[in-house]
Amino acid sequence: MTIDLMTKLGIETPIFAFSHCRDVVVEVSRAGGFGVLGAVMFPPDQLEQELDWIDRHTDGKPYGIDFLIPANYSKDAEESELPLLDMVPAQHRDFVTKLLDDAGIPRLPDDQAAELKARIAKREKNLTPAGARELLKIARKHPNIRMYVSALGPMPTDLVDELHGEGIVVGALCGKPEHVKHHRAAGADVLIAQGGEAGGHTGTVPTFMLVPQIVEAAAGDMAVLAAGGINRGSQIAAAQAMGAQGVWTGSIWLTTMESELSEFEREAMFRARADDAVRRKVLSGKPVRMLRSKLSEAFEAEGAPAYLPAPLQGLLFLEARARIDRAENVEYYTSPVGQVVGEMNEATTVRDVMYKLQLEYVEALEKLAANPALQALQ
Ligand SMILES: Cc1cc2nc3c(=O)[nH]c(=O)nc-3n(C[C@H](O)[C@H](O)[C@H](O)COP(=O)(O)O)c2cc1C
Repeated sequence: MTIDLMTKLGIETPIFAFSHCRDVVVEVSRAGGFGVLGAVMFPPDQLEQELDWIDRHTDGKPYGIDFLIPANYSKDAEESELPLLDMVPAQHRDFVTKLLDDAGIPRLPDDQAAELKARIAKREKNLTPAGARELLKIARKHPNIRMYVSALGPMPTDLVDELHGEGIVVGALCGKPEHVKHHRAAGADVLIAQGGEAGGHTGTVPTFMLVPQIVEAAAGDMAVLAAGGINRGSQIAAAQAMGAQGVWTGSIWLTTMESELSEFEREAMFRARADDAVRRKVLSGKPVRMLRSKLSEAFEAEGAPAYLPAPLQGLLFLEARARIDRAENVEYYTSPVGQVVGEMNEATTVRDVMYKLQLEYVEALEKLAANPALQALQ
């Protein structure tokens, strides 16, 4: 039977917010929505600290956590004893090094390069099934986490059973109706129907088409949230009209004052238009919607090496990003963001965004209630 998410999670508004930034998670949950922390960016010890911090600042409000559990993962990488960075082929590393050298982007000083390598080594297993379980174990010590979400593949069924035993909601991102049967078999309670305009790993079907397809495929057994391109309260009403219980958002939080983005990154987002958010594999080896830049396009050019499988392409990308961020080079800067970036034009706060979304949502509901077509039916 479909759960009623707002009641089950004890939230006041059907707005879910994915973020890698603990401040965003806290502010959304405190404002009556549901903040969800993306866990894969963090080495396990740091994840523990982030969750402790969130617990201290949410006044007991519930929040969620999100893992990437790739269905296809390089077996060699999973079994490797080597630091995974050492498995990135020299040809790929040389390609990126030359690209950035030619652009005049300085190499990292030795101490910063060593620090980055150490940081990557601490989190490099996060995307393996075993590494994801390690992160999950840490999350389980935090009872205010009321929803666990997986992207790129279903959560393992034994874990789903354990989570259900504690009354925890299990969700999964879903880009095609064909994915629904896997999530159903794994025991998911919620499907996040993420359209192709969304930031991050994404398919191609637009949100407005995908949501009703996923609602139909869920067949009343699982709740659905609509994701991709959401920046207005009227879209919450539209999502509900299509059978979703609420919305799941990501990009819009990036340019809030609370987000982890630096000033130069925020500026790059403000300048971008909707069609500057392109789907490329440079970030992880799988299609990710991200800002177009000279880095995002480099691997698409003739003569570029083939993309590496997950997680190696991601490690190659992290090294490049560190150089680009340090140089604050806008031409080469890229980061995941959806097409809604075209509407992200000024700094806001999480509270302002939450207030605006809710106000517009109520206005949209009022307009619908006053719709002549509805009046005619009564
Ligand atoms: C910067 C960024 C990173 C993301 N990383 C993840 C992730 O690690 N796991 C995940 O489930 N979704 C991730 N997503 C996708 C979001 O969960 C969400 O589905 C998406 O942002 C919704 O579309 P929108 O960006 O148009 O709001 C990411 C999105 C962005 C913008």
